[in-house]
Amino acid sequence: MPGYWFKTCFLCRATCSLKFPVQGIVTSCFSKSQHLIPLSAALGKPAYHSEHSSPRLVLGIETSCDDTGAAVVDETGKILGEALHSQKEVHLKTGGIIPVIAQQLHREHIDRVVNEALRASRITAHELSAIATTVKPGLSLSLGVGLDYSLKLVELYEKPFIPIHHMEAHALTVRLMEPVDFPFLVLLISGGHCLLAIARGVSDFLLLGESLDESPGETFDKVARSLSLINHPECSSMSGGQALEHIAQQGDRRNFSLTLPMSQNIDCNFSFSGLRSHANGIIIKKGREEGLKKGQILSCVADIAAAVQHTVAFHIVKRTHRAILFCQQEGFLPQNDASLVVSGGVASNQYIRRCLKNVTNATGLALRCPPPRLCTDNGIMIAWNGIERLRAGLEVLHSPKGIRYEPKAPLGTDISDQVRKAAIKVPRLKLNI
Ligand code: KG4
Ligand code: ZN
Repeated sequence: MPGYWFKTCFLCRATCSLKFPVQGIVTSCFSKSQHLIPLSAALGKPAYHSEHSSPRLVLGIETSCDDTGAAVVDETGKILGEALHSQKEVHLKTGGIIPVIAQQLHREHIDRVVNEALRASRITAHELSAIATTVKPGLSLSLGVGLDYSLKLVELYEKPFIPIHHMEAHALTVRLMEPVDFPFLVLLISGGHCLLAIARGVSDFLLLGESLDESPGETFDKVARSLSLINHPECSSMSGGQALEHIAQQGDRRNFSLTLPMSQNIDCNFSFSGLRSHANGIIIKKGREEGLKKGQILSCVADIAAAVQHTVAFHIVKRTHRAILFCQQEGFLPQNDASLVVSGGVASNQYIRRCLKNVTNATGLALRCPPPRLCTDNGIMIAWNGIERLRAGLEVLHSPKGIRYEPKAPLGTDISDQVRKAAIKVPRLKLNI
């Protein structure tokens, strides 16, 4: 067909004859509102609940941090439409997320984003089965905008409300893409979080370990700032993590040696703040040696980026390896076809994915990651979590009055003591990256 590219859609895996933007991350047909074939058919999933004559639809709304996202997904896993407004460029300029600015931007964009998602879906709000919104964890001021807006919609259209845990949504996104049965091991690495958990059901998680200080995304963002990557011509519009990954490709990590965090702690917790201070010390020292002014870029920037990325990746690999061995020892995962699911913004990092692939190859698990586009925050994952909860009949509120957002909210039951007591030594693993 002249003027059209044929390309395999990463969502429905059909060859679609829709026009795609050549550049950019949209490589599925969902932006054009339709999969050519329903995802359920592509994946052999049951179509939908037989009581309902047509698949139920959920509108998902995400405002927990700095992305205003909305999407409509049906219970066969078909993404009918989505819209996303990212505040990344504003926060890059201010050197980090300032909550009142994030709140203001969510307020300015939420109505447009939700309406765009509905318009792209070619449905009206009346046709929705429920509205699902992130209510925890996240920045209070940001969560508040999404919750207030959603409660008004819920009242106006008389729809049930499904409150969503942001990390649960990251963990379940993979099930929109491919059939992954419970239980599975999940590693969530993002700008706000870092945790390892066993997903036993839609809202049934066992927490194996989490970061004791900051998240890997925060570390990447702060190191990228210290390296002034925003002034690098190839990185000016990238998030810290993206910029660091990009620049690291040109570097040699062996030129700088950073201490691996927590090598003496035989558990699955994480720590990144010491590693960041160590990297910052090196950046300041090198800057002095090269006589740099504020905002200028070091000659060895790529080597430092590569060393930071490698050490973060290796730390994540070690803790994940221990989590897998623990699950296998305690019988928490199926003996055959066990999966490690990795998601959250930092899971877009291809170097980290390659390192984790070494671990899953060595332990016999399948590594499953949503496409990078769905690893970072978006409305689709919230709508899909809404569908999962709707199907399971979990917390579908017909009268949500009094519901509040929760800035801090653990995911699941903490069994990190049990992990520590198991004291599993992780064998040496030579990474083939
Ligand atoms: O999941 P997300 O969109 O928001 C939170 O819930 O935190 O994650 C954002 C984080 C940022 O810290 C960003 O720097 C990081 O994900 N990130 C990356 C990459 N892309 C985004 N980190 C490493 N490599 C990437 N390619
Ligand atoms: Zn997130």
